[in-house]
Amino acid sequence: MEQITRTTLIHAGKANNVYATTSPDYLELESSDRISAGNGAKKDIVSNKGIANNQISSALFQYLESHGIPTHYVCEGSNPASKIVKKATMIPLEVICRFYAVGSFCKRYGCEKGKKFDTPFVEFTFKHDNPDAPALSDPPIDRKTIPLLSELTLVSDEREVALIEYYTARVGELMREFYIKLGVNLIDFKLEFGRLPSGEIILCDEISPDTCRLIDLKTGESLDKDRFREDLGDVSKGYEEILKRVCDQ
Ligand SMILES: Nc1ncnc2c1ncn2[C@@H]1O[C@H](COP(=O)(O)OP(=O)(O)O)[C@@H](O)[C@H]1O
Ligand SMILES: [Mg+2]
Repeated sequence: MEQITRTTLIHAGKANNVYATTSPDYLELESSDRISAGNGAKKDIVSNKGIANNQISSALFQYLESHGIPTHYVCEGSNPASKIVKKATMIPLEVICRFYAVGSFCKRYGCEKGKKFDTPFVEFTFKHDNPDAPALSDPPIDRKTIPLLSELTLVSDEREVALIEYYTARVGELMREFYIKLGVNLIDFKLEFGRLPSGEIILCDEISPDTCRLIDLKTGESLDKDRFREDLGDVSKGYEEILKRVCDQ
């Protein structure tokens, strides 16, 4: 493959920077040290988080790809915090997979924290950050509504909704196996998918301690962004610990 080199910054998101490259088919995705919670309400910098997240994400994308999940991962980028990815049209859904009831699930239904689900439980939210109406940000969206609002969701076919759901549940099973071997209990995670010019739907974005809840199996300690959300102290410890276990395996 020809050398792909990054050119201009085209998007600086809450946690990641997106660069155009010398090829129209590829982007460079760089994980930054920026951290935020509550849709940007709480913000800080965590040194070396970008490198840790990119290394963890890259290892997971390669693992999932080798187990039959199509992903955007292509190769390493220009620095340890970045990777080259296939450029996709992002589908504005956050696809959440839960093994236990925690976080927004418990808030929404007023249920007790910690209930374990028998199978990976998948739900969708509509990725629709709206600074003028924060209460409407990222509302839950059901399977039937996704194709009904295809002009907004970019998914017009019920079978594609089912495919996204299937990929997410499969990613859940594969990641739980992966993390159990590292002494980590995967509680829940969020995925984003995109569409290639061919129409193919692939797994995009990131899979990192910013987007997964990860608990140490022995100690019960949080090793993810909950350390920041819940002011548990030493935020970088979670990222460093997961990186170490992923690299040592
Ligand atoms: N393969 C891809 N092609 C195009 N865009 C992508 C791809 N993977 C991720 N993205 C987008 O890159 C951006 C990454 O920035 P990020 O800081 O994560 O944004 P956000 O504030 O939306 O979380 C997101 O908008 C995400 O949807
Ligand atoms: Mg993001």
